[in-house]
Amino acid sequence: MIIKSLKLKNYRNYELLDLNFDPKTNILYGDNAQGKTNILEALYLSGTTKSHRGTKDRDLIQFGCGESHLETIANKHGVDYKIDMHLKKNSPKGIAVNKIPIRRAGELFGIVHFVFFSPEDLNVIKDGPAGRRRFIDFELSQLDKVYLSNLSNYNRIINQRNSLLKELSFQKNLIDTLDIWDMQLAEYGTKIIERRKEFIKQVNEIISNIHYKLTGGKERIALSYEASIGNMTLEECLRKNREKDMKFKSTSAGPHRDDLCFRVDNLDIRKFGSQGQQRTAALSLKLSEIELVKVLIRDTPVLLLDDVLSELDKHRQNYLLDSIHDIQTVITCTGLDEFVNHRFSINKIFHVKNGSIAREN
Ligand SMILES: Nc1ncnc2c1ncn2[C@@H]1O[C@H](COP(=O)(O)OP(=O)(O)O)[C@@H](O)[C@H]1O
Ligand SMILES: [Mg+2]
Repeated sequence: MIIKSLKLKNYRNYELLDLNFDPKTNILYGDNAQGKTNILEALYLSGTTKSHRGTKDRDLIQFGCGESHLETIANKHGVDYKIDMHLKKNSPKGIAVNKIPIRRAGELFGIVHFVFFSPEDLNVIKDGPAGRRRFIDFELSQLDKVYLSNLSNYNRIINQRNSLLKELSFQKNLIDTLDIWDMQLAEYGTKIIERRKEFIKQVNEIISNIHYKLTGGKERIALSYEASIGNMTLEECLRKNREKDMKFKSTSAGPHRDDLCFRVDNLDIRKFGSQGQQRTAALSLKLSEIELVKVLIRDTPVLLLDDVLSELDKHRQNYLLDSIHDIQTVITCTGLDEFVNHRFSINKIFHVKNGSIAREN
């Protein structure tokens, strides 16, 4: 699949924009704060309904404007799909595919699939568990409609459970309602954990080879899912933790507290890896995501590379560029130096300056 074009109206710092992409490599370059990431964000939004930065719709709308429009044309197996999005300040966004309104994000599934790669992704092993959960959730939410719906139900229920835990200190008689929340939480949570484990198993099969090659045969990597419930079922765990949860007024175990462990030669590199080792493993993880997505969707995703190249040394840069020549990419960078000494062929170059974009080749 590819993205053919993107039109923006009053989105972030773009008043009006009309961009046509090349089916292969597109570079957006320019100084900081000119609007490069905003373009990748708009593309990601059009495929997932969410900003990769987690920004709310009202903040994506250009300052001083009431609403914002995005129109993306994707092409899959030779068929065009026009995705229209209409962002509003105080109500949910309107979405239409080929002029037919859709209600749920899940209905966009299968039209276009993005893999977003940002500098923060290179810190995914060094940083805390939240980023590792986000990695799994962002990808699975694009791959699996059922997961997306289980996750949004789980998040809703956990918020309700946590508010109830706070209220319980004032109204003891509410304790009966906790059973109802726990039952539902266990149901959705268990499905989330199972699906994540399956996903990590699939990533594991791919990453070992990629990481072995990327480290020139020096390192073997293995991922494992670390469930905060240990060997218990979520239901048992919620029951066991009830007193504690009531005391601390929050839910202490469940998929929202789980983690992903990375071992190299049996060493937990989250804690004991060198910075270089952690970043290389993070790159392997991202490359594995691309490969896995290709297999699972039986198509090529669109890769959005946000300012990542300048974060990598020559060897890793080359490895990354060599790995992605067969898919459509939109790459942002501050300069074109990174590409000078590489055989990587660039098809379109755009210069981004203060909310407007000029084609350069
Ligand atoms: N809602 C908004 N309305 C207008 N401008 C915005 C909005 N949100 C962000 N911006 C502007 O977008 C610019 C940052 O764009 P970004 O794409 O992140 O830059 P970069 O080129 O560094 O990737 C900043 O100048 C910021 O002020
Ligand atoms: Mg940026």
